[in-house]
Amino acid sequence: MDGNGRWAQRRSLPRTAGHRAAEATVIEIIETARSAGVEWLTLYAFSTENWNRPGTEVDYLMGLVRRVVRKHAPLLLARGIRCRFLGVTDPRIPRELAQDFDDLTTLTDGNRGMTLTVAFDHGGRRDIVEAARSLIRSGKRADEVTEHLFAQHLPFPDTPDVDLVIRTSGEQRISNFMLWKVAYAEWTFPDVLWPDFRAPDFLACLHTYRRRDRRFGTVPPRTNGDPR
Ligand code: IPE
Ligand code: MG
Repeated sequence: MDGNGRWAQRRSLPRTAGHRAAEATVIEIIETARSAGVEWLTLYAFSTENWNRPGTEVDYLMGLVRRVVRKHAPLLLARGIRCRFLGVTDPRIPRELAQDFDDLTTLTDGNRGMTLTVAFDHGGRRDIVEAARSLIRSGKRADEVTEHLFAQHLPFPDTPDVDLVIRTSGEQRISNFMLWKVAYAEWTFPDVLWPDFRAPDFLACLHTYRRRDRRFGTVPPRTNGDPR
């Protein structure tokens, strides 16, 4: 979800106004994804590197996320959306916010409509290091470690690999996002700032994704008359 700051700057508003405007997009995209039959939606809300922003902006984001989570919990419950939070390990996260995350996770745990993962205080590299630590603690020998086993030590091992990443605002970077699970993801980079990103923009990304030829490193199946 990129481009909040630029959205605000273009209106001569403080960056926080862009974050506030992002809320409407968040809700619209969750509802659109759910209606479109998306089973797993992940929103990248705050990275381990975002702690390096000015304290006032970080504090604003913590407060905003808390308000959004509390305000929309009934909607998420009503839509049958199961919520979980990826990351959330840094002690700088306010205790009440971490508690709200836990409460929403528990509240929506029985839902099966769509799994919404909010990546908050998330870092792909940290997840990989934590998985390595966890493997070592489990006492496995080096020759026992496979990709499958390694993946079991990442957070939420039941979450499938990422199919599609949508990065708004035109930036074309991975920014430490779910590094293990994006190995064969398709990418789109819509040139729209997150607060301006609407349902049709999201659906256009899904349409683009459907037309992609996903080969996972193999070659397309042979067709009759193929000279190869
Ligand atoms: C939102 O957009 C992403 C968050 C970390 C909340 P930005 O705040 O990165 O917006 P730009 O990139 O400065 O425009
Ligand atoms: Mg940005």
